[in-house]
Amino acid sequence: MSNKIPVAVLAATGSVGQRFISLLENHPWFEVVEITASDRSVGKKYVEACHWLLADPMPEAVKELELLPTNAEALSKAKIAFSALPADIAEEVEPGIAHKGIYVCSNASAYRHDPLVPILVPEANADHIDILDAQQKKYKWSGGILTNPNCTTVSFVVPLSVLDKAFGVTKAVVFSMQAISGAGYPGVASMDIIDNVIPYIGGEEEKVEYEASKIMGSYDGSQIIQHPIVISAHTNRVAVVDGHTICLSIALKQKASREDLIAALENFEYPDSCKGLPSCPEKGIIYHYESNRPQPRLDRNLGKGMTTSVGRIREDKIFDFRMVSMSHNTVRGAAGGSILNAELLARKKLGMK
Ligand SMILES: NC(=O)c1ccc[n+]([C@@H]2O[C@H](COP(=O)([O-])OP(=O)(O)OC[C@H]3O[C@@H](n4cnc5c(N)ncnc54)[C@H](OP(=O)(O)O)[C@@H]3O)[C@@H](O)[C@H]2O)c1
Repeated sequence: MSNKIPVAVLAATGSVGQRFISLLENHPWFEVVEITASDRSVGKKYVEACHWLLADPMPEAVKELELLPTNAEALSKAKIAFSALPADIAEEVEPGIAHKGIYVCSNASAYRHDPLVPILVPEANADHIDILDAQQKKYKWSGGILTNPNCTTVSFVVPLSVLDKAFGVTKAVVFSMQAISGAGYPGVASMDIIDNVIPYIGGEEEKVEYEASKIMGSYDGSQIIQHPIVISAHTNRVAVVDGHTICLSIALKQKASREDLIAALENFEYPDSCKGLPSCPEKGIIYHYESNRPQPRLDRNLGKGMTTSVGRIREDKIFDFRMVSMSHNTVRGAAGGSILNAELLARKKLGMK
């Protein structure tokens, strides 16, 4: 009998759900025992219902699993549920699942604004996980809800929070070039995106501006206090398959040189609570010295898709510095990030070492 933690994947057939299924294959701590999807797929075997989009083959162990309805009653074995649900469905079902005693690690935006729900990015705010105790007490849940941010936020908040801890960041302008996989499958019509840039992604700019200040905020033992940073975001969809690239300009509190900023990023280390977690890459951040990097096609798979690439730090005539940051949106920005959060949770709450 396996001594792994039994887990469910909610919306296992979608673009993020498939990443979960792929990344959880042979995971040392977690075993997928339950999968759910919409009514369209319920009752079918995974292999029949899922239009598999990844280069790695569909894991044998899930092919024959039957898709369950997406609700708390349907789950009978999982201790952790990875949620790749659309936000409106997540809003309906995630609290019931948490109430049942399951920890929901969610990619959906539904509860990111809840003051007792952390938006966890271990490189930036691993300590925010401790707010789960207050969440369980207030909502009378024996499980909980833990979110990861929007994939665009995570693409720049990793280096931004490191620079904030070192020098203080007061303002940032962020300009995104977002991959089409960020819109799910089938996502943006090919006739709309080939040979094109779409300068609008509904709700994205508001999410980016809010989430970064919550992630960079401080946890005082009872609440998360938003960081006073002011962010202005421009979000754009471009004809890239995977990997969100962000150009950012930042203003600092303390004087620093370009070399100081690069050293801070290169010396980044995960907090002790995260070291040795199965999905924690050796390097959370890689600084690229080439003047034409990072690039999504070349750099998105560094650290098995979990490393954030940064480059082109240079002075800025309006703010202090500008740079480019990039990470894999469906790995670091979605399923991989959520699995890393679940590993931290499993170490804190479920006795894994
Ligand atoms: N793509 C990214 O880079 C990214 C990054 C971070 C966060 N997210 C978030 O992750 C979530 C999933 O995104 P995605 O890109 O994977 O979307 P997607 O490819 O469009 O997949 C949608 C999934 O949701 C399921 N679903 C739809 N309606 C449902 C219902 N009523 N009940 C239960 N399941 C339902 C679908 O199941 P069927 O196959 O049965 O229809 C499918 O599995 C969204 O909240 C998104 O905002 C995405």
